[in-house]
Amino acid sequence: MNNIKENFPILNKKIDGKKVIYLDSAASSQKPYSVINDIKHTYENSYANVHRGIYKLSQIATDKYEASREKVAKFLNVKSSKEIIFTRGATEGINLIASSLADSFLSQDDEVIISTLEHHSNIVPWQIAAKKTGAKIVELKPDSNGNIFVEELIKCITKRTKIISLPHITNSIGSILPIKEICLEAKKRGIITLVDGCQAAPHVEIDINEIQPDFYVISGHKIYGPSGIGALYGNKEWLEKLSPYQTGGEMIDFVSIQKSTYANIPNKFEAGTPNIVGAIALASAIDFMNEIGINKITEHSNYLTKILYEKLKSLNYIRIVGEPERRLGIVSFLVEGSHPHDVALLLDNRGISVRAGHHCAQPAMRHFNVDTTLRVSFGVYNNEEDIDKFLINLKDIVKYLQ
Ligand SMILES: Cc1ncc(COP(=O)(O)O)c(C=O)c1O
Repeated sequence: MNNIKENFPILNKKIDGKKVIYLDSAASSQKPYSVINDIKHTYENSYANVHRGIYKLSQIATDKYEASREKVAKFLNVKSSKEIIFTRGATEGINLIASSLADSFLSQDDEVIISTLEHHSNIVPWQIAAKKTGAKIVELKPDSNGNIFVEELIKCITKRTKIISLPHITNSIGSILPIKEICLEAKKRGIITLVDGCQAAPHVEIDINEIQPDFYVISGHKIYGPSGIGALYGNKEWLEKLSPYQTGGEMIDFVSIQKSTYANIPNKFEAGTPNIVGAIALASAIDFMNEIGINKITEHSNYLTKILYEKLKSLNYIRIVGEPERRLGIVSFLVEGSHPHDVALLLDNRGISVRAGHHCAQPAMRHFNVDTTLRVSFGVYNNEEDIDKFLINLKDIVKYLQ
């Protein structure tokens, strides 16, 4: 993993006179040359609208776009690429499912289980769905360390539970949920499952065939691809039953002025001209990850997370926020006596990018009795030297602030 940084032009440039140590990959990852070059290459050589033209260029663009769908299907270990919908990102994937389920499958007093540790994008869409249908949101609370156990989930399930929507890995503290067991318990009871895989896809192998969720969402920009592209896996039976989310060109079969019929999946859920180049470049991002090897990536993320956690834990002025049994890629913490924003700003002055804020997870912050935290998160390009530089500068800043 030593030379991986060289693949990322931004990490080899000076911003404000300093080389950036980027420790905010949970928010968005940096992009390797292969992805950047693919975007340029596609616009220069094979760009046209997809699924429309009879001419060569459109066919080439369509082939590349559909090849990317195949690649995403393989990446998630999904048998049929028809079960992969391109979206703008995880947010759109969750909105699509919440909205379409609310249209015809969610009724008054049905229950939707989400946890306290959700990203806002797995909370607000369900609130809208609940408001439309009279369904209720049930909060699955983690323990004080931030663990979510299957036993606790089972206690929340009632005869009215219709949907369970949970993250694979949480973005606020990096806790790993037993998502396979959760989906199994849901399946036994005929409950629909949606897994928010945004923070898992950059670090672990996603095996849909093994996890068996009904829906699984990822964002391209978190796995070294462009922003504005993501993927939703949906079980074929469900996708065929659900009503379209957005409507217009591309998603139709027959249109008259009074009524229309819809295209088959996946097109039924891809109204309008899609993010063609984004989807194509997503395949390059997946190639980039595959070339390193997903197991190697997991090992590397695990190693960095453990080292950082242990080093932070040994400092008496640091309070780790969230102490789950299993975590990956993310550590949230506070510097006693200092505001996270001040620390993040001073780190930035030294060329170190970390996140300070509520991480789009306000209920999670409240669970840990904090407003905001500092958050360090890793990508494939990070190494032990980044952690050391971060800690040396953090110690210096703490001396200055206290
Ligand atoms: C766990 C989780 N879910 C959903 C999202 C939303 O992803 P996007 O903004 O790419 O749609 C994020 C982004 O930070 C996230 O970390």
